[in-house]
Amino acid sequence: MGSEKKVILTGMQPTGLLHLGNFLGAAYNWQKVLDGYTCYFFIPNQHAITIPQVPANLRNGTLNCVAQYIACGLDPERCTIFVQSHIVGHTELAWVLGCLTPLGQLYRMHQFKDKSAKNENIYSGLLYYPVLMAADILLYNADFVPTGEDQRQHVELARDLAEKFNGTYSETFTLPTPLIEGAGARIMSLKSPEHKMSKSDSDSNGTIYITDEPKMIRKKIATAITDSGDSIRIDPERPGIANLLNIYCAATGITLADGEEKFRTYTTYAHFKKEVAEAIIALLEPVQEKYRAIKDDKAYLQSVIQRGAETVQPIAHATIAKVYRKVGFLNQ
Ligand code: TYM
Repeated sequence: MGSEKKVILTGMQPTGLLHLGNFLGAAYNWQKVLDGYTCYFFIPNQHAITIPQVPANLRNGTLNCVAQYIACGLDPERCTIFVQSHIVGHTELAWVLGCLTPLGQLYRMHQFKDKSAKNENIYSGLLYYPVLMAADILLYNADFVPTGEDQRQHVELARDLAEKFNGTYSETFTLPTPLIEGAGARIMSLKSPEHKMSKSDSDSNGTIYITDEPKMIRKKIATAITDSGDSIRIDPERPGIANLLNIYCAATGITLADGEEKFRTYTTYAHFKKEVAEAIIALLEPVQEKYRAIKDDKAYLQSVIQRGAETVQPIAHATIAKVYRKVGFLNQ
């Protein structure tokens, strides 16, 4: 008997420690949906190699990513955690979907444009990346895909491809909807607030990692770029302050309007920044405690992804069998 619950699927690349953008834009919201949906959280290690990786780091990073997921509140008893490369259906479906994807649509993807501008050697995998992402989503017929704002265009492509496949062959895929949460959806660098916070920021003080010690968090927030004004409100002309206010609101779960009201009477940024730092520290404390407790327990982490692969493999098989039949591939 099929589950009545809607399906959620999402993932983060295993390319190092998660930062506050990954946390507030994504992982922090994921644990809120565990009980209402059938949840699949996976580790897109095949996406990671679109940029050169050191193999040993990628291997360790994958297991470490499992530890970070669990530390962020993903209870493996209430959701499925698995690794992309363990399920061959992702690349099988990506090939079929790629044959329905106009090349021009891939060249227009923002992330491809950004990454290809920053890297000297561009490989076709980087261009094909959104097709693989569409396959990740459609393979499990996900209804919702929770991500930060930067992934919206990719989820929209997945939806377009689902529609195209259904229209070309017959009703097959669920059309996925992006789930993008308010204040945390686009956390910016503390040092250059016109760019999103990222693992590759050239100034490490621009990024807060989920394992940063309280002292480090206080320092990074105290030295965050602001401006010469003194009012604390959302103003596109003052991206540094807007970013800190966003972070505060996302970390404490209040609306931006309530945040502006709370700090309306503050006359210096220093006092405001202290409150932002303390809110982040309080939010990350339980995450750090859990992370320390499990990060070296490799046997446990392996058992989680082994169980995850066993859960999703039959679903992936069934989708691929259906897709292959519809496109006209002969049975073995
Ligand atoms: P990745 O690994 O770059 O980022 C993981 C999640 O963190 C969010 N995020 C942010 N949110 C707010 N502010 C920021 N500064 C910030 N930086 C990152 C991202 O939006 C994302 O939700 N392509 C995806 C991984 C992926 C995937 C998928 C996701 C592969 N297949 C299928 C969902 C469904 C990526 O590279 O995310």
